[in-house]
Amino acid sequence: MSKVFIVTGASRGLGLAVAQILIQASHKVFLVARTEKNLQQLKTQHATSVDFMAADLADLKVAPKIIDSAVRAFGKIDGIVVNHGVLAPITKISESSVEEWRHAYDINVFSALALIKEAIPELRKSQGRVVFVSSGAAFGAYAGWGSYGTSKAALTHLCTHLAVEEPSITSVAISPGKVDTEMQRQIRDDGKSGMSPEIHASFVDEHESGKLLDPKKPGNVIAKLVEGATSNLNGKHYRWNAAELANFQGA
Ligand SMILES: NC(=O)c1ccc[n+]([C@@H]2O[C@H](COP(=O)([O-])OP(=O)(O)OC[C@H]3O[C@@H](n4cnc5c(N)ncnc54)[C@H](OP(=O)(O)O)[C@@H]3O)[C@@H](O)[C@H]2O)c1
Repeated sequence: MSKVFIVTGASRGLGLAVAQILIQASHKVFLVARTEKNLQQLKTQHATSVDFMAADLADLKVAPKIIDSAVRAFGKIDGIVVNHGVLAPITKISESSVEEWRHAYDINVFSALALIKEAIPELRKSQGRVVFVSSGAAFGAYAGWGSYGTSKAALTHLCTHLAVEEPSITSVAISPGKVDTEMQRQIRDDGKSGMSPEIHASFVDEHESGKLLDPKKPGNVIAKLVEGATSNLNGKHYRWNAAELANFQGA
């Protein structure tokens, strides 16, 4: 049966892959990101199953508009993939600007809180699902990644809290592995000065040796989870390829 999903950060990379998989599965998808032309392109290709809002999620006032627009476009919300995120600033704490961290938190954490808070009434009605895109960086520390790692840790714990407070909604946090996207390009090209040389070199090496994941691989698991995550997963965090997610990893 066709469901309605919001996918954030759907203009490229992992979010675009998730959106394409959901569209392919005959669902309705409401896309959010800043780059309007990429979102418009998907809508042009799939006029009746796609709608979008081009918006900067750091502006917390857009959250109610997104939820309103998605409901007006498709009548309900069955799930949200909170996928958008930024790695910058890549700077050690001693050299960092608190204002830059605050901005990164607005994007990676507070925008997610704003969106979920607005969506709760709709998600209660649909007994819907939220998939939070987390990161291995939420659990381990790389020099220079403080704002990213700590904000992903907060996002991951937001998932746990949502599950405790809203048991009718199923919330799961997923670490997608190292995925071949713009974010990995940023690590290679912009990360050298802020990161430890060995860790930076390991990211360059994984790219050069073809080890980065195609976004479709973790994207497929994320799409399947927002479609049908079961209540035993509520509030938990998993790597995309965890054995516990075997039912969500097939073609
Ligand atoms: N790639 C990896 O190896 C990796 C590993 C672990 C976790 N992740 C996580 O996976 C998610 C997707 O990342 P990706 O790898 O696909 O990176 P990406 O290619 O940089 O995509 C990030 C997406 O977020 C959107 N976005 C960024 N800032 C935004 C803002 N202020 N308002 C609205 N949208 C915004 C971007 O769209 P616009 O620029 O058009 O706004 C883009 O669609 C992120 O949460 C990331 O932390 C990635």
